[in-house]
Amino acid sequence: MARSFCLISLLILSLGFKPCTALSWKNDSSVEDGIQACDPYPHPFTLCKSEAEAFGYPCEDHKVTTEDGYILSLKRIPHGPSNGDNSTDNENTRQPVLLFHGLMVDGISWLLGTPKQSLGFILVEGGFDVWIANTRGTNSSRNHTSLSPKNPAYWDWSWDEIAAYDLPAVLQFVYDHTGGQKVHYIGHSLGTLIILAAFSERKLLHLVRSAALLCPIAYLDRTKSTLTRAAAQIFLADAARFLGWHEFNPFGLVAREVLMTVCGNPAIDCHDVFSALAGPDCCLNATSTCAFLEHAIQSTSVRNLVHLSQMIRRKGIRRYDYGNARANMKHYNQTRPPLYNLSTIPTHVPMMLMHGGQDFLGDLPDTRHLLKTLVRNHEKDNIEVLYMPDYAHADFVIGFNAPELVYGPMVDFFQRH
Ligand SMILES: *[C@@H]1O[C@H](CO)[C@@H](O)[C@H](O)[C@H]1NC(C)=O
Ligand SMILES: *[C@@H]1O[C@H](CO)[C@@H](O)[C@H](O)[C@H]1NC(C)=O
Ligand SMILES: *[C@@H]1O[C@H](CO)[C@@H](O)[C@H](O)[C@H]1NC(C)=O
Ligand SMILES: *[C@@H]1O[C@H](CO)[C@@H](O)[C@H](O)[C@H]1NC(C)=O
Ligand SMILES: *[C@@H]1O[C@H](CO)[C@@H](O)[C@H](O)[C@H]1NC(C)=O
Ligand SMILES: *[C@@H]1O[C@H](CO)[C@@H](O)[C@H](O)[C@H]1NC(C)=O
Ligand SMILES: *[C@@H]1O[C@H](CO)[C@@H](O)[C@H](O)[C@H]1NC(C)=O
Repeated sequence: MARSFCLISLLILSLGFKPCTALSWKNDSSVEDGIQACDPYPHPFTLCKSEAEAFGYPCEDHKVTTEDGYILSLKRIPHGPSNGDNSTDNENTRQPVLLFHGLMVDGISWLLGTPKQSLGFILVEGGFDVWIANTRGTNSSRNHTSLSPKNPAYWDWSWDEIAAYDLPAVLQFVYDHTGGQKVHYIGHSLGTLIILAAFSERKLLHLVRSAALLCPIAYLDRTKSTLTRAAAQIFLADAARFLGWHEFNPFGLVAREVLMTVCGNPAIDCHDVFSALAGPDCCLNATSTCAFLEHAIQSTSVRNLVHLSQMIRRKGIRRYDYGNARANMKHYNQTRPPLYNLSTIPTHVPMMLMHGGQDFLGDLPDTRHLLKTLVRNHEKDNIEVLYMPDYAHADFVIGFNAPELVYGPMVDFFQRH
């Protein structure tokens, strides 16, 4: 079963899966073991070809080059399946919405189910022009104007760069290609942190009409999870060595190494970890979980994980810490990395925050801190919070009841803003 996969995915602040609870971890199991429990899919998954087009939806593949040279794949489903009467589908009559995935996955996670289940399709059916981002380092976004992913310099980034380069490049592209319409933004997990970071620097506000944040992640220092804390500890204690690996492929050697180290720590009983996590996701089913495991999981940079670990261990949301005053001085002109001050986010930006009571990473103490920061002074008509007591991280993306409980209210919110 997906037990080792589960641990990895939790370590990497991603998702917790129910199959993990069934069995204890064995020291010789590898990440691939989990996936072998799933039936292979008959066709290779690519977002446009085997997802959108399989259901009759048109799908466009755009390439967007960031200021620092990464060539990102941006997909678009401009309207629903053509039925001859496309009178309502003239160019730019639909409002654009941009879906931004979380850590260690890519845009296909928005389309893994049927048109009635998956947010990407539901938005098309709701009348939106749907754009799907894929960040640097993921399968469809690994090209660069001068670097190859084999080159360590390709992996010299954390979410600071996703916020500073990928996000603006993609948003501007959507804006420019939809007749200059402001974009509704939907982020999950890390996809929320980057837009909050940008807003806190008063950037991108002219491109965004409203922002819906699924499992908002910002403050991480209050998490009570011993596993998250242990993983962060390991990354930081050994940052220099881990950084030497550059790419973090969840199916690769580095992931295995982290797993071994965490479970080799006598203070952490990997068996107990799984028991404690029993049923973190209330509403996944095997089909969608397998599709997700097999097709959505993607690489990130080790530096990104080190950055997130820094946030778990220290208060405040700061840029990547190069490890010493001199190196920080060189990069930032100050000895400590600059702060993203979320209190400075303008209070008029329409925002909807949806968070779960069982979320391992977007955990309650940290989320409450975020809500306190964002909601208190925000214009009341422009902020909404939806709390799902039973939901964990993955339920918001592939939960079978998310269309009714989460996506419905979200589409209503967009229609009001
Ligand atoms: C670890 O692996 C060895 C050899 O595969 C096995 O004999 C041992 O029982 C395993 N230990 C645990 C705790 O699973
Ligand atoms: C629908 O769109 C197609 C392709 O853009 C176009 O060829 C066709 O004439 C349109 N049909 C109607 C009824 O507007
Ligand atoms: C990554 O993309 C290539 C083609 O670009 C494809 O053959 C491969 O199956 C993809 N891998 C995954 C894990 O999706
Ligand atoms: C990657 O980008 C380079 C530079 O723009 C381009 O020449 C090359 O064809 C691209 N490779 C692929 C596989 O798209
Ligand atoms: C999982 O979802 C699919 C698609 O809606 C459904 O057919 C199936 O019955 C579900 N399985 C479980 C175990 O709920
Ligand atoms: C740091 O300050 C110097 C001098 O004021 C300036 O030339 C340089 O561009 C600054 N570097 C950064 C990264 O801000
Ligand atoms: C963050 O911004 C708020 C509002 O502008 C300000 O009151 C607060 O002092 C700032 N916090 C820090 C740590 O700079």
